[in-house]
Amino acid sequence: MNEHRVSAKVWDLPVRVIHWLLVLLIVMSWLTAEFDLLPLHHLSGYLILALVITRIAWGFIGSTTARFTHFVKGPKAVAAYAAIVFQRGGKSIVGHNPLGALSIVAMLGLLLLQTILGLFSEDADGVGPGPLADLLTRQTGRAVADVHELVFNVLLFTIALHIAAVLFHTCYKRDTLIRPMFTGRKILSDGSVHALRFVPSKWALVIFAAAFALVLIIAAV
Ligand code: HEM
Ligand code: HEM
Repeated sequence: MNEHRVSAKVWDLPVRVIHWLLVLLIVMSWLTAEFDLLPLHHLSGYLILALVITRIAWGFIGSTTARFTHFVKGPKAVAAYAAIVFQRGGKSIVGHNPLGALSIVAMLGLLLLQTILGLFSEDADGVGPGPLADLLTRQTGRAVADVHELVFNVLLFTIALHIAAVLFHTCYKRDTLIRPMFTGRKILSDGSVHALRFVPSKWALVIFAAAFALVLIIAAV
């Protein structure tokens, strides 16, 4: 059957900007940790924390496809999707699929945990501790830094899975996912175009500004 295909907006600007900023800043966090550039490491961490807070808030009040209620599904839906994951073709999905939702929630949760651990981490030579490390003994702060390193490895593993899944969808299932994360638009079969509501991006900016200010206040205490 030759289905009529249309281009429709699926991702709002905040989802896309937050995604690619997170990618850049995680690379920056990694490099600055490796090369011991702790002031820059802290800065990228604060930005990540504020972006993750914004994305989580947007998951409750943002556009339809950004909302957790739109893509986080129970075990039945996850199992049903997993059962057909190797099938090619079929209707294009508007928003995240139920399996992808698991990795998204995991990545956002791990990033939140990682940045909070960073705030309490004591560095090896005492020159660039996290701003809240003073609240702990040096020994505990060092232990937190060890957990911070461990969580980073779990995060890297989850990110690798995420990228592998995106490539699987792109190459094996021939479902275009990457371009829509830049442009916001996806080619869909008519039947899968739903009424989507888009919340103005300015509200995400307001949330980000408030979150970043809060993080900077915490960093300054
Ligand atoms: C540091 C690395 C990365 C992290 C932490 C990350 C995290 C995320 C998160 C949290 C989402 C959900 C988007 C949202 O609803 O806000 C997402 C979606 C997505 N990411 Fe990434 N990502 C990373 C790297 C990449 C890379 C390198 C690519 C390209 C190959 C990519 C392609 C995508 C795509 C296409 C989606 C949308 C999937 C769908 O259509 O359901 N990501 N990513
Ligand atoms: C998602 C964001 C972050 C990532 C991916 C990240 C990653 C890392 C990594 C890979 C290390 C190296 C661990 C080691 O080899 O010992 C590290 C160390 C550290 N990070 Fe982070 N970090 C993040 C956020 C933060 C934040 C927000 C702070 C505090 C403001 C922070 C403070 C520290 C400190 C104090 C160390 C210890 C450095 C040392 O051992 O000398 N990090 N981080």
